[in-house]
Amino acid sequence: MKIVESSHEAYAHVHHLRCDQQKIGLVPTMGALHQGHLSLVERSQAECDVTAVTIFVNPTQFGPHEDYGRYPRTLEADLECLSQRSVDLVFVPQQPALYPAGYSTYVEPPAEAELWEGQCRPGHFRGVLSVVLKLFQILPATVAYFGQKDFQQLTVIRRMAEDFNLPIRVQGCETVRDDDGLALSSRNRYLSAEQREAALSLWKSLRWVEQAVAEGQRDVANLEQTMQQKLYDAGAEKIDYARIVDRESLASLSAVDRPSVALIAAYVGKTRLIDNLLLDAPGPPDH
Ligand code: PAF
Repeated sequence: MKIVESSHEAYAHVHHLRCDQQKIGLVPTMGALHQGHLSLVERSQAECDVTAVTIFVNPTQFGPHEDYGRYPRTLEADLECLSQRSVDLVFVPQQPALYPAGYSTYVEPPAEAELWEGQCRPGHFRGVLSVVLKLFQILPATVAYFGQKDFQQLTVIRRMAEDFNLPIRVQGCETVRDDDGLALSSRNRYLSAEQREAALSLWKSLRWVEQAVAEGQRDVANLEQTMQQKLYDAGAEKIDYARIVDRESLASLSAVDRPSVALIAAYVGKTRLIDNLLLDAPGPPDH
């Protein structure tokens, strides 16, 4: 496994492989790897000739009061884990390699970024898209793999790739969950045993919505109200949003009458968790 810190070296390596007609899979991460990340690596390895992983805790996507300083950094364990899986290349830049002194160019995020996470975390998607665009340039891969747990992130990255005509395919991958349904997240390690139980409130309320829609409930205001109540009842302390939205545009809906997605961001203790579930409304509406 090749470990590279320099952007030039990473580019030269991947560019050479690309010229050699190799299919290259890219898995961008902020480290603190768990099975969710590893499932992206496995998918890339199954579909591509070469797999490159990036590990970089990107400062520009964290707000001033967010957890950049205490975000888990477990580089040694991450590298060990990737080496065991025979990943071909790991790019681990230091901050100045991506943001040298005087750096000042950022991506203006698309409309889908203005809602939900975008409202709660101003500047977040500007930071995400800027670093992702840089990574796409430095590692000119064929396909990039992102988890569907960050549904809005996946949507805005897809939109950027399309709008900027980037020569890369953005592949979303299913959320990996613990046996009890908790979506894997690097932030789960902040949770005490009691908080972990409360964190299940996200999955429980998403499953409730799924069931309610399957039984014919379509009224989004009613569904959202009950979803929020269920979150509080099961232990969430603060809800940033718990909404049912159009799956493409992420805009609010009044009825679940098209492919939709339920999106949640809620706090358990000081830990902010997100999760989502795709909803289909094949049957007849409310009666
Ligand atoms: O999802 C993440 O881990 C990050 O937002 C990403 C895409 C690696 C950009 O820093």
